[in-house]
Amino acid sequence: MGFGLMVVFFVALVGLAVLKGIDVPTCFTDFPPFKEGKVIQKGEKDYEVHLLSKMWVFEPSRIEIPAGSKVTIYTTSIDVLHGFEIEGKAVNLIAIPGAVNKMEVVFNKPGTYRIICNEYCGIGHYAMYGEIILAI
Ligand code: CUA
Repeated sequence: MGFGLMVVFFVALVGLAVLKGIDVPTCFTDFPPFKEGKVIQKGEKDYEVHLLSKMWVFEPSRIEIPAGSKVTIYTTSIDVLHGFEIEGKAVNLIAIPGAVNKMEVVFNKPGTYRIICNEYCGIGHYAMYGEIILAI
């Protein structure tokens, strides 16, 4: 009886740790991993961004698009795990070598949004930034 309870507690704790400790990506895709970052315009205020993470930069590191744009972001890494957070937006993905994550974001407010690596990735981690500039 006591042992059974311990097992239940252990499983519950591990489950919680997994839930709390790991950023669950919005969507794993079949999209093939890419080795080059780019911005593709798909339509008026409709963009696709291939965001490549590598020690210790995002590529492209500066993305300029008009405010009100819908952006479909695909992200991957060519070396280690990197984080991918957009300041001021509910975007928090992991860039994983060999896999591609995807998220759609609409940027209504003009301004500069910083892209931050929030996953420790080595000595240059603290300086791993990018920016998305929404022009009026
Ligand atoms: Cu890339 Cu931390």
